[in-house]
Amino acid sequence: MRLPHLAQTARAGEFAQLRCTRSSVPLLRRPFSVAWADGDACSFVFDVVGAGTAALAALRPGDTIDVLGPLGTGFSPSPAQSAVCVAGGVGCAPFPLLVRDLAAAGVQDIVVLNGAATSSRLYPAERFDRVATGVRVIEATDDGSRGHRGWVTDLLTAALSEANTAVYACGPNAMLGAVARLLREACYVGLVEASLEAPMGCGFGTCLGCAVPVRSTADDAWALCCSDGPVFRSDEVDWDTLHRLPEAHVA
Ligand SMILES: Cc1cc2nc3c(=O)[nH]c(=O)nc-3n(C[C@H](O)[C@H](O)[C@H](O)COP(=O)(O)OP(=O)(O)OC[C@H]3O[C@@H](n4cnc5c(N)ncnc54)[C@H](O)[C@@H]3O)c2cc1C
Ligand code: FES
Repeated sequence: MRLPHLAQTARAGEFAQLRCTRSSVPLLRRPFSVAWADGDACSFVFDVVGAGTAALAALRPGDTIDVLGPLGTGFSPSPAQSAVCVAGGVGCAPFPLLVRDLAAAGVQDIVVLNGAATSSRLYPAERFDRVATGVRVIEATDDGSRGHRGWVTDLLTAALSEANTAVYACGPNAMLGAVARLLREACYVGLVEASLEAPMGCGFGTCLGCAVPVRSTADDAWALCCSDGPVFRSDEVDWDTLHRLPEAHVA
């Protein structure tokens, strides 16, 4: 999409709210990570899961779309010499931009662990290293049709080359919780950041629809996924409570 402002200002992990159709169904904008920016153009990677994404998939060259962004708090630039990005399904979306930013910040060793249900749903490995050379992409598929057969998280501990490797994760909340648990069990002390999923209404902190539970000394502590996140430090998130939240539907 030709979106000059977004292309020039979006940072890795930030998102845009796309008004997928001019009709009233769906009513609200839908959030999508900015996957890539080049000149005036931005790209997004998405899965068709409902009315909004079906409308997006039906857009044709020359169509116009109403877009709000960049929004949210993205990934932190890494102070480490190495970084591991863990992508589950369309959770791959923020990583092309992150790999670009990490390479620009001088991170030497960048590994992308890219997982999907099947090989046909894997984001192409070459899209992760359009700017940075030497990025290693290790793939996993649930059905074993490409790369490791099983969860992408199975690859995580072996990919941590140094104690100060930064870990960045994006995918379903269940996968993010598994990353947090694995690293906690391994007594991992490096930077771990996760881009969370939450139902979103406004996308900029007014509707409170995207509240996610965070660890705090207070009994109930919530952060807004759209403005405090979507990227959080993994140890800030109350994963057990997050996994117990009921599924929400967005108008
Ligand atoms: C910060 C952020 C970034 C995202 N980036 C991407 C991306 O780059 N590519 C992509 O394909 N998807 C992304 N998503 C998820 C995407 O927003 C939803 O898939 C989309 O809103 C579904 O809209 P729909 O009208 O097609 O489906 P709906 O009919 O609204 O929902 C269909 C299914 O999707 C689930 N869903 C709805 N809203 C969300 C949501 N906000 N997060 C997760 N699941 C949801 C519903 O529970 C339901 O199971 C992102 C979500 C967030 C919060
Ligand atoms: S989506 Fe409205 S407050 Fe976060």
